[in-house]
Amino acid sequence: MPAASTTDPALHASAFLSAARGEPVTHTPVWFMRQAGRSLPEYRALREGVSMLESCMRPDLVVEITLQPVRRYGVDAAIFFSDIVLPLKAVGVDLDITPGVGPVVASPVRTLADVEAIPDLTPEHVGFVTESVRALVGELGATPLIGFAGAPFTVASYLVEGGPSKDHARTKAMMFGAPEVWAALMAKIAGIAAAYLEVQVEAGASAVQLFDSWAGAVSRADYEQHVMPWSAQVLERIGATGVPRIHFGVGTGEILDLMGAAGADVVGVDWRVPLAAGIERAGGRAVQGNLDPTLVFAPTEVMLERAREVVEVGRTAPGHVFNLGHGVIPATDPDQLARLTDFVHEVSQR
Ligand code: CP3
Repeated sequence: MPAASTTDPALHASAFLSAARGEPVTHTPVWFMRQAGRSLPEYRALREGVSMLESCMRPDLVVEITLQPVRRYGVDAAIFFSDIVLPLKAVGVDLDITPGVGPVVASPVRTLADVEAIPDLTPEHVGFVTESVRALVGELGATPLIGFAGAPFTVASYLVEGGPSKDHARTKAMMFGAPEVWAALMAKIAGIAAAYLEVQVEAGASAVQLFDSWAGAVSRADYEQHVMPWSAQVLERIGATGVPRIHFGVGTGEILDLMGAAGADVVGVDWRVPLAAGIERAGGRAVQGNLDPTLVFAPTEVMLERAREVVEVGRTAPGHVFNLGHGVIPATDPDQLARLTDFVHEVSQR
């Protein structure tokens, strides 16, 4: 099945997909990383008594949770409700998502045998994803659905550490000290991520985002040698589908050019990097970002003034997708995000 965006002209011409392709737009498109989730009372109500992983595997819940922020805010794109560790769970890795903690892996990966014990992902592992995406695309009409996966480094960090980590010490110890195990692990995750994204695109997702949230933990030289080649493999495989590819990480100011060169169409910029510098480093690619996610806790007029600056600088990019510089913080007041969405739409009218 060809990507829905190639057969639906209204979807193809949407502000989000146009900006991602670096084409003219009627207004700056907006969506928010983690727009679905705990900041929404309707999400918390739906999740009552249902574990995070279970909710990701139930198409009825995935569809409803993904649509909630689209209905509430009128954002220009939906992001598939799931998690970066979901494909690992689907192939049989023993892990859970612990409330308030994040992903926890029962037996951390430390040896080549541990890596080889992880199965490759086939579409049969994630039938519920195909079903959820198809249903969503039908509901969304001309609003694009963004599929996503975790990039090899960020997913490796959870597998090797066994859970969230501040310094990623064991992960980097493997990268520095056991390069052959590291390469095998990165290749394994790259294959899983690419196959998982292909499933989403095949089912109708019209863009993808590769989250390398923790890639900012490595130096530029180590990124180039030990991380970038595998992210590039994932992005290259998805490039063959023709959908725009967004590549995002946090604290990645020093490697933004490389994240673009890895095969992105849109470079995600966090809030630490001035957007103008992000545009420069993205090397002619479109950019996404980058309002500080804590600005929602400032007085509304302060938040909107900063948003205006982001929109104005964004106009100098080949394409700009407005977003926060990282995910929505759970304590965020949804009314602030509603005001932000309306404001960006209003001030960016062409
Ligand atoms: O709306 C969306 O953006 C889609 C949903 C989404 C989730 N996780 C749902 C989720 C997305 C895109 C992710 C990606 C993800 N997961 C990343 C990359 C994005 C980023 O923020 O950098 C990472 C690093 C993870 C790993 C992970 N999963 C973390 C750090 C946590 C939070 C731990 C906590 O509880 O504070 C999770 C759990 C998770 N994933 C939740 C949600 C809504 C919260 C769990 C819950 O609602 O019970």
